[in-house]
Amino acid sequence: MSVGRAIPHDSAELHVSGEALYCDDIPTPSNTLHAAFGISTIAHGRVREMDLSRVGAAAGVVMVATPADIPGENNYGSVVHDDPIFADGLVQYAGQPLFAVAATTYRAARKAASLARVEYETLPAILDVRSALAAESYLMPSERIVRGRPHERLAQAPHRLRGSVTIGGQDHFYLEGQIALALPQEGGGMLVHSSTQHPTEVQSIVAHALGTSAHAVSVQCRRMGGGFGGKESQAALIAAAAAVIARKTGRPTKLRLDRDADMIITGKRHDFVADYDVGFDDRGRIVALTVMLASRCGYSADLSAAVNGRALTHVDNTYFLEHVEVISHRCKTHTVSNTAFRGFGGPQALVVIEQVMDEIARSLSLDALDVRRANFYGVGERDTTYYGQKVEDNVIHEITDRLERTSRYRERRAEVAAWNAGNTVIKRGLALTPVKFGISFTATQFNQAGALVNVYSDGTVLLNHGGTEMGQGVHIKVAQVVAAELGVPLAAIRITTTDTSKVPNTSATAASSGSDLNGMAAQAAARTIRLRLVDYLCEKHDVAPDEVLFADGSVTVGARRLSFREVVAAAYLARISLSSTGYYRTPKIFWDKAAMTGRPFFYFAYGAAVSEVAIDTLTGETQLLRVDILHDVGASLNPAVDIGQVEGGFLQGVGWLTSEELYWNERGQLRTYAPSTYKIPAASDWPAIANVALLERAPNHEETIHRSKAVGEPPLMLAISVLHAIRDACAAALPAGAAIDLPAPATPEAVLRAITPLAPRVFA
Ligand code: MTE
Ligand code: MOS
Repeated sequence: MSVGRAIPHDSAELHVSGEALYCDDIPTPSNTLHAAFGISTIAHGRVREMDLSRVGAAAGVVMVATPADIPGENNYGSVVHDDPIFADGLVQYAGQPLFAVAATTYRAARKAASLARVEYETLPAILDVRSALAAESYLMPSERIVRGRPHERLAQAPHRLRGSVTIGGQDHFYLEGQIALALPQEGGGMLVHSSTQHPTEVQSIVAHALGTSAHAVSVQCRRMGGGFGGKESQAALIAAAAAVIARKTGRPTKLRLDRDADMIITGKRHDFVADYDVGFDDRGRIVALTVMLASRCGYSADLSAAVNGRALTHVDNTYFLEHVEVISHRCKTHTVSNTAFRGFGGPQALVVIEQVMDEIARSLSLDALDVRRANFYGVGERDTTYYGQKVEDNVIHEITDRLERTSRYRERRAEVAAWNAGNTVIKRGLALTPVKFGISFTATQFNQAGALVNVYSDGTVLLNHGGTEMGQGVHIKVAQVVAAELGVPLAAIRITTTDTSKVPNTSATAASSGSDLNGMAAQAAARTIRLRLVDYLCEKHDVAPDEVLFADGSVTVGARRLSFREVVAAAYLARISLSSTGYYRTPKIFWDKAAMTGRPFFYFAYGAAVSEVAIDTLTGETQLLRVDILHDVGASLNPAVDIGQVEGGFLQGVGWLTSEELYWNERGQLRTYAPSTYKIPAASDWPAIANVALLERAPNHEETIHRSKAVGEPPLMLAISVLHAIRDACAAALPAGAAIDLPAPATPEAVLRAITPLAPRVFA
């Protein structure tokens, strides 16, 4: 059977041979225009005058598009309509598109875009979270979840600590930048090829921008060169601007962002600050906790409500918090509007609670692992989250026990201590951190999916579903499911471009739910066809349904054995429909917005990692020496793809927490907009020793697709172990008992500052 096997990604060979088609590779008609944005240079202000005459007169320019050229709504905001495609008078971040210019070549368009003369009336700008908090500059109402009597219990707790956590943002740095190609069709139609995680939303926003209806717009995406959340809402801006120009000029229009434009114009992971107050007992068990979370949402709502909602429900991680209050502020700043990014607010919440655990352990001189374990959700007791969902699938005890043994955590703890006692320059650190992550979109309505399966009379199968491929392997997994359902070899199935005209009203491929949702929908479609064939065969051969079996490309009908192809060809002649849609919606989930309780997640995914690092106390540089990971994916649909997701997610998290630093100057301009100044991990940052394993014999207790679990986002949070290993090494470099003031990302500068608290500050 195809399900559960380690099968290579369907496009693996195409990726490495260069044959895989990305948006930019689609052959374009000869009259195609190339577009570029003209952007604001100030963070907040009014446009007093915008002189675009030099832009329009530049060589090769065919059109300059401003709000006046948008036939419909000048907006690409999905949840709240507060994202103009082109700023109309009011500028709210440095980098905001003011206009777009279309020319016969891409170079001509970019060159022309820089020729605009814009005069602004500058307004005061709020640029970071602390300033926004001080000014109470919020985009939307703050939210709060409280259980028990946290303030009263804090006052009575045997021990109490207060602290703050600083967590930086992150650029998605997908290798393929944002891009769309809009092709005008007859009768006012528009076909858009978009590098998007959310074709349906691009369809609806393009339709609104053009002042037309959904049925006039088709959006297609064969694959993305990475999305990571950055192409969930942001892709609509690019597609809408391209479509507006295509409509006005009647010519195909491609809009592609170069790396600098992409980093400056589009949203990133939310940076957070948090203040906590925790009470605990002698063993380090938390008695009561209050947490204030505040995130930089940027100038508009985008997906910030959902991102912060996920943060609000992930402060517990794997820990039972009895008396707790979590407050979430969604700060409005005059910076780019932040958006979805792998983990969607969850990772930031986990960083907060893990720092709390670490601080408790240090204050009691206990091993941090013992404190973490003492706080774990129990099995059958102390098992209800502070938002009312019971943790019914807790495997964190098993994962931690096994990982502690296989990584030789205790022995290596002693080895690290011995190393640190004998070495003054290079210090080592070790940490084990756990992960629990809720699976489902927190907005219940998004937890639905559709698929279309066509069986042709030669026995081959065309598979279409609402999920988009961004490298994560959703297509191969869904194809495996369909192959298993029809009992055909994987080679019989062809995966096609995601297309709003084949499967409508889809959700974003996000929240790690791509194969959970689309796998179920495609299975339902394939099952409908199989059951039609079973009916037909039973009648024709006078057998009972349980005498018909589909496997290995054959169909056993009683004593007969036919090929799938023969059966299908005969069924066609007998006028049996060989095409079906399929649909799925996640059961059991609900959320009471007023009470802030419910069951937002169908189930939880778990994992843990042990990381060991070395820091150079003279330069602050760090090196990840070894990582051991044990991660829970239920009954894996494809262990090869899942291991890839675990490794990739982990290293992307390491980048976020150690090297990727976004820096805005005092005028709110992003200064780190290229790989020269914004450092993502390279292959050489992968540790010399890495033991990555999936938790075996742990099928999902819920009825998910073949009892698998989602894997896309949770492994990113395994990287928190690296941040804590660095903290541990910093502690070894500091006098015993000294506070560790280490923000994320723990860049060399940050590490150096943390271990030399009394040194003069060269960097601000
Ligand atoms: N893996 C690759 N290679 N590229 C990506 O862009 N995105 C991540 C994750 N893994 C991503 C990836 C994010 S943010 C999510 S939500 C999931 O994949 C989405 O896909 P899935 O739901 O099919 O897991
Ligand atoms: Mo992933 S952040 O949910 O696209």
